[in-house]
Amino acid sequence: MGKNKLKKFADMNGYRCVLQYPWARLSEEGFPHKGKWGSDFFNNGNPITLELGCGKGEYTVELARRYPDRNFIGIDIKGARMWTGASQAEELGLTNVAFLRTDIELLERFFDSGEVDEIWITFPDPQMQKCRRRLVSSRFLELYRRVAHGGARIRLKTDSPFLYAYSSRLLRENALATDADTADLYATDGLEEVKSVKTFYERQWLARGKTIKYLDFRLPEEGAAAVAEVDDSDIERDDYHSFPRGTARELKS
Ligand SMILES: C[S@@+](CC[C@H](N)C(=O)[O-])C[C@H]1O[C@@H](n2cnc3c(N)ncnc32)[C@H](O)[C@@H]1O
Repeated sequence: MGKNKLKKFADMNGYRCVLQYPWARLSEEGFPHKGKWGSDFFNNGNPITLELGCGKGEYTVELARRYPDRNFIGIDIKGARMWTGASQAEELGLTNVAFLRTDIELLERFFDSGEVDEIWITFPDPQMQKCRRRLVSSRFLELYRRVAHGGARIRLKTDSPFLYAYSSRLLRENALATDADTADLYATDGLEEVKSVKTFYERQWLARGKTIKYLDFRLPEEGAAAVAEVDDSDIERDDYHSFPRGTARELKS
C-alpha cells in the first residue's frame, strides 16, 4: 500500500465520524449502534439519510452542512476515497455525519427495521452483466425495505443510459411512485438542490459530455408485495462502461 493511502487510513482511525467494519470485525464484535444510531452516536432522534457507494462523500457532507436537523451516513467499501469527505466533516466540526466503511450488502447488520429515512445512490456502477449486484435491483430494493420505513425516498443519480432504462422499467412494472424523473437533469427546470452538488464521478462524466439522469422514487409501503425483478435483456448496454468492473478503471484511463 502506498504511503499516501497509509496516511489516510491512519487519519481515519482518529476520526470520530468514521466507523470501519470489514466483515472480520463485524462477525467478531457485531455492530454496537444498530437500532441505536440516534441515542448512541448522533445524540438526537433526527431522521437518517444514507449515501450508498458514497466515494468521497460529496452529498453526505454538503447535505449535512445544509440540514443540521438531519443525520447523514456515507457508506463505501473503499476507505481511501471516503477519507476526503470524512476529513471535511471533521474540519467543519459536523456532528450529524458518519462514514461507514463496509459492504452495502451487509446493511441489515448496521440498521434496524425502519431506522433509515432516505437513501441516495450516487453514480453506482451499472453492473450491466450482474443484475443481483446492481444497487437498484429488486434484490437491493428489498434489502433497503428491511432497514427503511415504508414509502422511504430513494434518489438515484447516474450517467448510465442502461441503468436509467433498467431502473425506469423496474419502477414502472412494480408501480413504484416517482417524485422526479429526468433523462437529462441539467436540461430540466427546477431540481436545483440535486444540481447544486456534483460528485467526483459526476464531474468526470460531465466533462466527457455525458448527460446526467435522475430518479426520485419511493419504496413500497409497509405490507406491499415484494419488488419483482424485470427482464433487462433487450435494454441496450452502454458502450463506454468497461466490462466487467464498471466505471472505475474506465475513468482512470
Ligand atoms: C462509481 S463509484 C461512485 C462514487 C461516488 N458516489 C461518486 O459519484 O463519485 C461507485 C462506488 O460504489 C462503491 N461500491 C460499489 N459496490 C459497493 C458495495 N457493495 N459496498 C460498498 N461500496 C460499494 C465503490 O467502492 C465506489 O466507491
